[in-house]
Amino acid sequence: MVETTPRPQPTTGQLVDRFGRVATDLRVSLTDRCNLRCSYCMPADGLDWLPNERVLTDDEVVRLIRVAVERLGIREVRFTGGEPLVRRGLVDIVRRTRELSPDLELSITTNGLGLARTAPALKAAGLDRVNVSLDTIRAETFAEITRRDRLHDVVAGLKEAADAGLGPVKINAVLLRGVNDQQAPELLAWAIDMGYELRFIEQMPLDAQHGWSRDGMVTADEIFTMLEREFTLAPASEPRGSAPAELFTVDGGPATVGVIASVTRPFCGDCDRVRLTADGQVRDCLFARKESDLRTPLRDGAPDEELARLWTVAMAGKRAGHGIDDPTFLQPDRPMSAIGG
Ligand code: 5AD
Ligand code: SF4
Repeated sequence: MVETTPRPQPTTGQLVDRFGRVATDLRVSLTDRCNLRCSYCMPADGLDWLPNERVLTDDEVVRLIRVAVERLGIREVRFTGGEPLVRRGLVDIVRRTRELSPDLELSITTNGLGLARTAPALKAAGLDRVNVSLDTIRAETFAEITRRDRLHDVVAGLKEAADAGLGPVKINAVLLRGVNDQQAPELLAWAIDMGYELRFIEQMPLDAQHGWSRDGMVTADEIFTMLEREFTLAPASEPRGSAPAELFTVDGGPATVGVIASVTRPFCGDCDRVRLTADGQVRDCLFARKESDLRTPLRDGAPDEELARLWTVAMAGKRAGHGIDDPTFLQPDRPMSAIGG
């Protein structure tokens, strides 16, 4: 007899792909909206935001995180955007996520606007750490890149985050040729002085305007050479593991700087990440060409077990690598702001 309805299969309790990688780090995008307009991310006018009815409610987000933590072995949750601080329910979502387990590692990736005000509440809700995006410490350059004159809000946010105990505070910086690339050493000197851990990220082809080019991006080798003119860098002893940043000690340490060579030295083989978009789609990779819908079954009343099974199936198809250097590479349909960093 032919079976017409697939029997629910027991889940293995892990998100494993066919290359044996196990995803334990969940990136949850809480909104695709943002209050900056970084030129490497969005056009000046912003984008067509997701309609509200497609965005998961706080309850729905927490339910999916619970399924991931209780049934799929997720140990780390990072909230991203767009800009996660513009999501009204953020503090409550963090608190409810923390209630799932005291052992979860909880962090956010934010542009820092409004962080000065929210940092103590985020800490009290159980957040562990913040990653703040900051590409320059010059007000004019900041306004040029982000199209908003808000540098001092970010600087204030960093300080409050550190004071609130959301450390070690990390900074992500993207270098753009002819805009802020020459400022890499001064940004590093400033970060070290302030006690923040700076990591440079190679620009990836994830902008809505498709303005990225392989020749235009500042490579990890170039960043390293530029920094070496002013600092002595030595590979830090810790093994990189699944962490994408290659760490170097600066002038003998203890300060370090990280370089995330997503394009020129991909770390896909060690990837332990899985992503959930604000509208409830599972993405097995930043560069995935397809997504798996969890919002529809969630809203149709699927039990936890079924959501976990769908999620497991979604991960099985994860590709070996992003293939940016492959001539057939196609940028994902959604930009970074709608995927989450
Ligand atoms: N390439 C690399 N990093 C990017 N970010 C945003 N767009 C890109 C891109 N195209 C960074 C942001 C933030 C994090 C979420 O990703 O600066 O730090
Ligand atoms: Fe906003 Fe981040 Fe995109 Fe800048 S890079 S516009 S801060 S989402």
